[in-house]
Amino acid sequence: MNNFIKGKNIITKTLSFRDKLLFKDIEVPYAPVVNALKKYYENPSVQLHIPGHTRGEAILKDFRDLIGERVPFLDTTDEFDNLGTLHPATGPIAEAQELAAKAFGAKKTFFLLNGSTIGNLALGLTLAKENQSVIVGRNSHRSVLTSLIMSGANPVWVMPEKLDNWGLFGEITPESIEEALKKNRDAAFVWVTSPTYEGIVSDIKSIADVCRRYDVPLIVDEAHGCLWNFNKDLPESALKLGADAVVHSLHKTGGSFSQSSMLHVAENSRINLVNLEANLKLLHTTSPSYLLLASLDSARAYLQSRMGHVAIEKALKHSKYLRQRLSSIESVECLSPDEKTIDPTKIFLKVKGLSGKRLETILEVEYHIEIESASDEGILILSNIGNKFEDIEYFCDCVESIIKSGFSDISHLETEESKYMPLCEPDIVMSPRKAHQSDTERIPLCEAIGRICAEVIAECPPGISILMPGELIEEKHLPYLTHYKEITVIKK
Ligand SMILES: Cc1ncc(COP(=O)(O)O)c(C=O)c1O
Repeated sequence: MNNFIKGKNIITKTLSFRDKLLFKDIEVPYAPVVNALKKYYENPSVQLHIPGHTRGEAILKDFRDLIGERVPFLDTTDEFDNLGTLHPATGPIAEAQELAAKAFGAKKTFFLLNGSTIGNLALGLTLAKENQSVIVGRNSHRSVLTSLIMSGANPVWVMPEKLDNWGLFGEITPESIEEALKKNRDAAFVWVTSPTYEGIVSDIKSIADVCRRYDVPLIVDEAHGCLWNFNKDLPESALKLGADAVVHSLHKTGGSFSQSSMLHVAENSRINLVNLEANLKLLHTTSPSYLLLASLDSARAYLQSRMGHVAIEKALKHSKYLRQRLSSIESVECLSPDEKTIDPTKIFLKVKGLSGKRLETILEVEYHIEIESASDEGILILSNIGNKFEDIEYFCDCVESIIKSGFSDISHLETEESKYMPLCEPDIVMSPRKAHQSDTERIPLCEAIGRICAEVIAECPPGISILMPGELIEEKHLPYLTHYKEITVIKK
């Protein structure tokens, strides 16, 4: 059992004898929001404020039995019980954000409670005004497109490389960014996603150099790369390589609870912090969950700690083991760090003769394994900081067993037409915002060719758009829309 005791400015963990030998002087760094929540738990007041379930007294018994008594007890929001506030950041929350900024190498860090989505929205609103152009990677997450709808800015697309063998987008090159900047001297800023969902990393240092030469801010959507600052064998974080700001979905791979993320602003950033903070305030809830805030604080403290360091080392070791073991099987191929710069904890693999979707089904139904995602080409699995070696070993055993059993690929025939995502440049004929605000109608997909789309259509994950508001619907989109019967278009 973990038994937390309060020390002077630190929380020390009581360790087993074996742990003590391993980590002689282990100290989990100070986590002020976690501390404040602990104090609140130990000294409860009479609660005559929200949330109305009043520490779990008024919730469904089944739910309470499921989650235990402590979770609803701790479900509170800022402003009460000396817990500090998020906007403006005060008390333990302000302190925790400062500690996070130090840990991630930022000038300023903001805690986000609607994922990296809200970070992207606030950045887009802060950096671009109506009718300005923004240079955007074609493989951007849908939240980037939402920000364009909100700001009224126009996208100038930069196509990433295509890894045709893998059915994936690759890196965005500095040359393609420079070409876009040359043609669009008025561009408000550049927005690049790195790593991709599958872990492929762009040369952010060179891209940042280009952006500096053209004097435009660079935003890097690093939602899937929040561990990088904590281990030298992981890629370098964009914050260190010259980006003005990055978003990190700590909840994806960093160990915080779902929905909690961080936005980091770099030391020499050109972003106006006052405006950014105002936009975050505009978009954020006014009742932030203290549990989510505490989970961000705790994730940062854990990642900085010796135990966090060991957990990342383990994740890297596991991924190496997995790659080595699977590479000895002829019919298996893993996208390798030797081929591309990739985050090694993300493993995209394919099995000859089986589509990724079929492989996913077999793993789930026959072996009770839930993977991160599947495409026609292959599957993505994560070697997480929380995974045990046995998880990875079991996965390898199962892949071997699947290959020996000779499973057939029936679903490959069924899904042949349903590709992962379009590897083409969108033909935008109206600004995303104008399209969003126009009169629209739902029409059958078979009548949609030649019409202007009025919604973001994106499969999540990875949330890359197939179509977006303002885009002309063409024949080439149809293979990606087999699951859609109707589509929202601009009224004629
Ligand atoms: C590249 C990228 N950016 C941003 C997001 C949005 O992150 P969140 O789910 O934390 O809002 C995602 C989510 O999948 C993503 O893949």
